[in-house]
Formats: sequence, C-alpha cells, structure tokens
Amino acid sequence: MGLGAARKTALVTGAAGFLGSHLVDRLLDEGYEVVGIDNLMTGDLGNLERAGRDPHFHFQMGDVREPIHVYAELVFNFACPASPIHYQSDPYATLTTSVMGALRLVEMARGRRCTIVHASTSEVYGDPTVHPQPESYWGNVNPIGDRSCYDEGKRCAETLLNDARRAWGVDVRIARIFNTYGPRMAFDDGRVVSNFIVQALRGSPLTLFGDGRQTRSFCFVKDLLEGILSLARPEPIEGPVNLGNPEEFTIRDLAEEVLRIVGSDLEIIHQPLPADDPRQRKPDISRARELLGFSPQIGLREGLRATVADFQARLAERASKGR
Ligand SMILES: NC(=O)c1ccc[n+]([C@@H]2O[C@H](COP(=O)([O-])OP(=O)(O)OC[C@H]3O[C@@H](n4cnc5c(N)ncnc54)[C@H](O)[C@@H]3O)[C@@H](O)[C@H]2O)c1
Repeated sequence: MGLGAARKTALVTGAAGFLGSHLVDRLLDEGYEVVGIDNLMTGDLGNLERAGRDPHFHFQMGDVREPIHVYAELVFNFACPASPIHYQSDPYATLTTSVMGALRLVEMARGRRCTIVHASTSEVYGDPTVHPQPESYWGNVNPIGDRSCYDEGKRCAETLLNDARRAWGVDVRIARIFNTYGPRMAFDDGRVVSNFIVQALRGSPLTLFGDGRQTRSFCFVKDLLEGILSLARPEPIEGPVNLGNPEEFTIRDLAEEVLRIVGSDLEIIHQPLPADDPRQRKPDISRARELLGFSPQIGLREGLRATVADFQARLAERASKGR
C-alpha cells in the first residue's frame, strides 16, 4: 500500500473505538484520506486526538445502521461494541449494528470499485469443540444465549457479505479477529486484559472468573493491524481469515503476568464463570500465514508492558483532572 498519484480514500466505521482509532492513525501514516464514522456508543473522541490534528482525517458522527453517504475505495467495517458488558447492555443495537451496518456498506459498494474489510470475530466459533479453530470450522454457537446478539450478529454479517460477493461481485474480505489488546482499550469494558490492568493499578484484588484454567490467546494491536492491512491488498481474498496470536495462555497466567509488570502481589479472587464463556480459544492462523505472510511479533510481556504504560498515563491524567 502507500500513496499513489492521488490520495485514496479509506472509510473506517467504529473509528473512535480501540481498534478503529489505531487503524485510522495507521491509514493516515500510509497516506490515505481517511473518513471515520462513529456513533460513540463505546468509542471515545479522545482516541482520535492525534488523527484530529491531521488535515486528511474527517470525522462524521453517525450510525452505520443509517444509509452511508461516503464513497471510499477501501472500507474497514469496525463499528460494533466488542466487549460483553457493552454488547449485552443493548443486544438489539449490537445485532442490528452488525447486520444493518454490513448491509449499508454493501449498498454503498455495490457496482463501484470498493473493497470492504470486515471485522468479524473468533466468537463466530462460539464455545468451540475443535481446537485450535481453523476457518473451516463452523462453530458451536448458542443462538439464544446472552452472547448471541454479538455472535449471531457477526455470523449473519459474514453471510450477508459473502452473499453480496457471490451475487454482485462486491469485493469483501473477512477478518476473524481473536482477542486483541493494547493502548486505548476502554477502562470499563470488562475485557480481561483491561480489567486486570485497571485492578492492578488501582490496588484492588484481581477478579478471575472460574478456576482460571480457561485459555485465551492475546494479540497485540500492532500485530493485528499488520494482518488487517495485508488483507486489504489489491488481489481478492475469498473466505474468512483468522487473525490473532496463536500463543495460548491461561487466564491465571495473564493475571500473574500483569501483577509482575505492575510489581504488585495483590490477591486474586475467584468469581463464577459467565454464561456461555468459551473454555478454550486459540486461532489456527495457517491461512493468514500462507496468504498474507502474517506472523505476530509481539509477545505477551512486551505487549502488556506497553498497555500498562498507556493505562498508567491515562489514569494519571484522569486523576490530575479530578475524574
Ligand atoms: N478487540 C478485540 O479483541 C476484537 C476481537 C474480535 C473482533 N473485534 C471487532 O473489532 C471491531 C472493533 O472492536 P473494538 O475492540 O475496537 O471495540 P470498541 O467498542 O472499542 O469499538 C467499536 C466502535 O464502534 C462504534 N459503534 C458501535 N455501534 C455503532 C453504530 N451503530 N454506528 C457507528 N458506530 C458504532 C463504537 O462507538 C466504538 O467506537 C468490532 O467490530 C469488534 O467486533 C474486536
């Protein structure tokens, strides 16, 4: 990628969110004219502070469920609350954002030169019975559970985008993103990495759901963006591509690593596992490796250090403003 004769326009939905805002910064660095759309359901304009100083960035307050009046050669569809606390707080909004958002982008792209890179999720695999999960695995999802608005919304968006490709040749790329963390994650979103870091920095005991032996793999945001941008390459890519870091850790490992980095010996307390919480989650990234040369470089310790430093700085800024 890079700057051609004229700047290409990229549209990022969910631009004020954790991943969307990093993507905006990266696309500006790559020489794009970038339009960001967000309704600020979970996003924060503070995430766009750097982008806001760039004359090539344009923010639109808007909802992806409404018709989209921007034309861009490259679209990154990242709008959707991603943490269980947020997506379960308004399940109807979550489901409709996934499905209607994809529909609105297809309406915009149909018949035009436009590539849509869609942020799908490992949650399409539900509580997997196959481990690690390759893209060919169809998943094990509860269609009517607490997490269904997110899981099924994302599954339906994949269906809709694939049908648009088959029916009208819309160029869609589907990233099945596994647990990604890094600077700018929201303080209060209940995701395990941000939870542990905020608790450790505030000196509260770390709350661990279940026995802590459930596993996850954690991808640092910078690594993920490499995969997302490679997926936007000019040559079409059919079918979903897993993106994540396949290194697997127990949740207890994660808690202990956070405590080591913060330099604390706080207590770890146990709470019951939430409904439909997957026991194991690990991407099979063979396809991303082969197609995109994707290979995450940043290990958990290095990524956590950068994330803890960012949370520390933001907590200090909040404290200085009396918040
Ligand atoms: N972070 C992860 O680990 C992860 C994993 C898998 C998939 N994803 C996907 O990546 C995308 C971004 O996730 P994130 O972690 O940055 O979450 P986030 O909550 O920080 O960002 C989502 C953004 O979308 C915006 N949004 C929500 N509904 C909207 C609507 N109807 N119209 C316009 N904007 C809307 C929010 O305000 C927010 O800024 C999501 O689609 C999510 O499903 C993230």
